[in-house]
Amino acid sequence: MEPLRLILLYAHLIGFALLLGGAVTQYMSKHIRINSAMVWGATIQVVTGIALAAPLRGGGDAEPAPAKLIVKAVIGIAIFAMAFFSRKREVVNKGHFMALVGLTLVNAAVAVFWK
Ligand code: HEM
Repeated sequence: MEPLRLILLYAHLIGFALLLGGAVTQYMSKHIRINSAMVWGATIQVVTGIALAAPLRGGGDAEPAPAKLIVKAVIGIAIFAMAFFSRKREVVNKGHFMALVGLTLVNAAVAVFWK
């Protein structure tokens, strides 16, 4: 993999750590809200994910399936919207919070298991 793509993948994994780590830490504090680590993580995931999706691997089997990228983009943008537009709320609905965490886990599973 070229250095630029490796750097983007590294940033993509740090974004995942901020999003999921921020959410788990917040959940364990028993004060259910969207913290800034989650908003930063969700933002980084969409920006680095779209950059990683550029078809610069030489084409053919080296490229991820377009359907996989569309599913990841739709879920990633949904997560971003759910984090960004609730970021100022002192408390969010537990269902909203758990859906955000669930979609994060689903997107990581799509990344890893859909080859
Ligand atoms: C919360 C949202 C997201 C999570 C948790 C997530 C998770 C991951 C993980 C764990 C990997 C590493 C998989 C591996 O190297 O085998 C990965 C890679 C990747 N992700 Fe995401 N992702 C998210 C959002 C997105 C978005 C919005 C896109 C844009 C379509 C995207 C596109 C990609 C691409 C293209 C790769 C492969 C990089 C490569 O190996 O060249 N991701 N993602």
